[in-house]
Amino acid sequence: MNTLIAYSTTLGCTEQCASKLKDDLGNGVEMVRISRRRRYNLEQYETIIIGGSIHEGMIQRSVYKFCENNLEVLLELQVGLFVCCMDPDANEQELIDRAFPEKLVKHALSSGFFGGELNIKKMNLLQKIMTRKAARLQKEPEIDFQKILDFARKIQEL
Ligand SMILES: Cc1cc2nc3c(=O)[nH]c(=O)nc-3n(C[C@H](O)[C@H](O)[C@H](O)COP(=O)(O)O)c2cc1C
Repeated sequence: MNTLIAYSTTLGCTEQCASKLKDDLGNGVEMVRISRRRRYNLEQYETIIIGGSIHEGMIQRSVYKFCENNLEVLLELQVGLFVCCMDPDANEQELIDRAFPEKLVKHALSSGFFGGELNIKKMNLLQKIMTRKAARLQKEPEIDFQKILDFARKIQEL
């Protein structure tokens, strides 16, 4: 398997999910944190899995830009998409549709919502204030490890 997991994380949860996905997929999988300064040689991979987390209703801008900037190449490869967020009742398809460019969503062979975590220890004051109200209203968010495994199985079947 010649696969790249390209992800962005604000507080570490998406990185944890990407790492679990890498383990579930087995050999031949690399992980890279998306950065605006990095150049990618995506053609060398068979499969690219792209993930990020939702903050204030949006995926990280760097993730969206990565998809836009590499769209042509991505449309030639096998693609999987995933997101992390704290709303357990979020509609998976809506999340994916909002987070990634439409053409890529249509092209993707697998997409998933892996749950989320509120990593309070890593938050700055503003992030704590922004999430306090929502966190009180909902049950504690958690990563859905079974969904990550199911996603990995789907990718392995490609
Ligand atoms: C400032 C802030 C804003 C957030 N906004 C949303 C949101 O709009 N919708 C949502 O479902 N989750 C929201 N979350 C929860 C994150 O998506 C969740 O904690 C996710 O697991 C974070 O992943 P990361 O640690 O990889 O950034 C927010 C979290 C923070 C800290």
